[in-house]
Parts: sequence; C-alpha cells; structure tokens
Amino acid sequence: MKKNKKIIAPSILSADFFNLQQQIRYIEIGGADWIHCDIMDGQFVPNLTFGSMVIKSLKKNSNLPLDVHLMIEKPENLVDDFISAGADFITVHQEAVVHLHRLIQYIKSKNVFAGVSINPSTPLCSLENILEYVDMILIMSVNPGFGGQEFISSSIQKIANLSEIREKKGLDFYIQVDGGISKNNIKSISEAGCNVFVAGSSIFHSDNISASTAELKNIVN
Ligand code: DX5
Ligand code: ZN
Repeated sequence: MKKNKKIIAPSILSADFFNLQQQIRYIEIGGADWIHCDIMDGQFVPNLTFGSMVIKSLKKNSNLPLDVHLMIEKPENLVDDFISAGADFITVHQEAVVHLHRLIQYIKSKNVFAGVSINPSTPLCSLENILEYVDMILIMSVNPGFGGQEFISSSIQKIANLSEIREKKGLDFYIQVDGGISKNNIKSISEAGCNVFVAGSSIFHSDNISASTAELKNIVN
C-alpha cells in the first residue's frame, strides 16, 4: 500500500468527553479519515489522559481507524492492551523505548501498523536505523503533553528533510505531524511532505466541528 494519501486525523484530546459519541459523529460527517487518540501517563509527559478502555469503546462505536499515540514510558508493557482494544495504528516515542526495533516488529506481528514519534528536540538521524521497518513516522511539532500549543516553525524543515530521505531511500511510510495545526498553516505543512495531519483544538474548539474537519481536508486535497 502506498502511504502517501492525505489524511486528517482529529485528536480527541480536545473533544468534549461528556459528548464523545456526538463529537465522533461530527468528525465523521466532516470526512475525518482516522481518530487520533493521545495516551499520556504523567511520566513521559506532564499530563494524564485515558487508557485502552476508551479505545475499546471507540472501536465498538466508529468504523474509523484508531490511531493510538502512546506518550508513555515503557510502552512495551502496555501495547498488548491497546492491540486487543482495537488499535489500528500504534505509535511509540523513540525517546521512551530502549529496544525500539523489537517493539516495532512485535506490533507489526500482531497485524497492527507501527509508528515511531520524535519530540521537537530529537533529531531525524536518531531514526536512521528504524525507518525501513516502520509504517509511520510522527514528527511532534509541539512538545507533547497538551493541546492548543503553538506550532514550532522549525518542524517544517524537519518534515521536508524526512520526506526527502523517504524519497531517496524509496521507502513507504506515512509522515504524520502533530501539534498546532490549523487552517492557517496546514498548506505549508502539506507542501513540506506531511501526509497525516493531527489536529485537536482547531477542530474540536471551533464553532462547527464537521465544517472545520472538512475545511482542513479540502485545503490539503
Ligand atoms: C499533544 C498531542 C496532540 C494534541 C494536538 O501532546 O499529541 O495530539 O492533541 O493538539 P492541537 O492540535 O490542539 O495542538
Ligand atoms: Zn498526538
């Protein structure tokens, strides 16, 4: 499968959890491609969110692929829970895993797409020996932990460099970008080579969740 489609993945971190079902319907109407789920443990990042139970409920109630972003220490201890809950994609942080190659191979052996994420301060060269094994690289364009932060502009060059490496090496993985994406910057992020756009507050804190989803999608397609 060529992983170069432009994909909108709203992050439910900024959704209204009291009305989660309705919020998911709104993004579905707007044409969302995946649901991005931010899992935080209060250790790897200074915030705590939800666990595999929420993934399980989402799986029962939506047909959209579930894109699970693990911002946790020792993700190898919890991946099985997320796999059995129905995650379609599992992304772990390069900074949080010692035996990254082993974990990526394990996730893929369970027929789940495997991704690796890097923080804004982590260089692309740290991914050199894992690129050929992954389904997705997630470039964090904010320091992970919270929604609503400003896009770090140097991420554009990082995305462009990764896109060039992907091209040169003839590899096939999604380039995902997460943090501070809105209608004002999504075009330049797309032009740099991003294919999977995670957006939280610019979708869920807008007046019309469906229209904001559709708007982002229209800009990149
Ligand atoms: C940040 C999370 C993001 C977050 C993005 O740690 O990984 O997915 O929800 O939110 P916005 O789009 O508001 O920056
Ligand atoms: Zn995320």
